[in-house]
Amino acid sequence: MSEELISIYIMGKRYEVPPSLTIMKAMEYAGYKLVRGVGCRGGFCGACATVYRTAGDYRLKVALACQTVVEPEMYIAQIPFFPAERAPYKLDELEPTFETLVQIYPELLRCLSCGTCTKSCPQDIDVKDYMAKAMRGDIAAVADQSFDCIMCGLCTARCPAEEAQYNIAILCRRLYGKYLAPKAEHLSERVAEIEAGKFDEPMREIRSLSDEELRQRYNERDIEPA
Ligand code: FES
Repeated sequence: MSEELISIYIMGKRYEVPPSLTIMKAMEYAGYKLVRGVGCRGGFCGACATVYRTAGDYRLKVALACQTVVEPEMYIAQIPFFPAERAPYKLDELEPTFETLVQIYPELLRCLSCGTCTKSCPQDIDVKDYMAKAMRGDIAAVADQSFDCIMCGLCTARCPAEEAQYNIAILCRRLYGKYLAPKAEHLSERVAEIEAGKFDEPMREIRSLSDEELRQRYNERDIEPA
């Protein structure tokens, strides 16, 4: 039995679509060819930030178009790119400190702790909380709490203090990765071995193999050597 269609409004124009579709699929069903505002289709890339409202409800809601199913009388607009502040910096020249955060993003201190960012996050990240940690200079905590951020920009789009939370968070993740995370000793050892030429001969041999030989070598490899 075919599904009853429901009415939705995309960029102000009405369309009839099946109720089981995501916003993204409904847009394609309605004839939109998505060039911007689409990427992974799986909730990972952050390209499909969307704002919507449903009839009879004054509240503006936010969602990822690839993860959210349409509702009757939904008014939809996409935000494929949000022009948030994105400060230039050279990571090699920075120190992992509170002063660095404030120097690069002075607006950090304007945060009102209103929590709109947390309510807007489709990843359920407590953005307000990591912003509080950023204001205390706890870069490791910001890096940890914002780890699942997909940079969709919805926190920033709704922020009354016009913060660029997701750009502040990625700065913290970069500072953490470069300066604060424990170093992987085994990685340093392997890089030293590579630089000393330990793998030059095996690499030369692999490059000389045919496609067929390469496939056979791959299929016969020890997946988990004892
Ligand atoms: S298309 Fe990548 S998160 Fe929706």
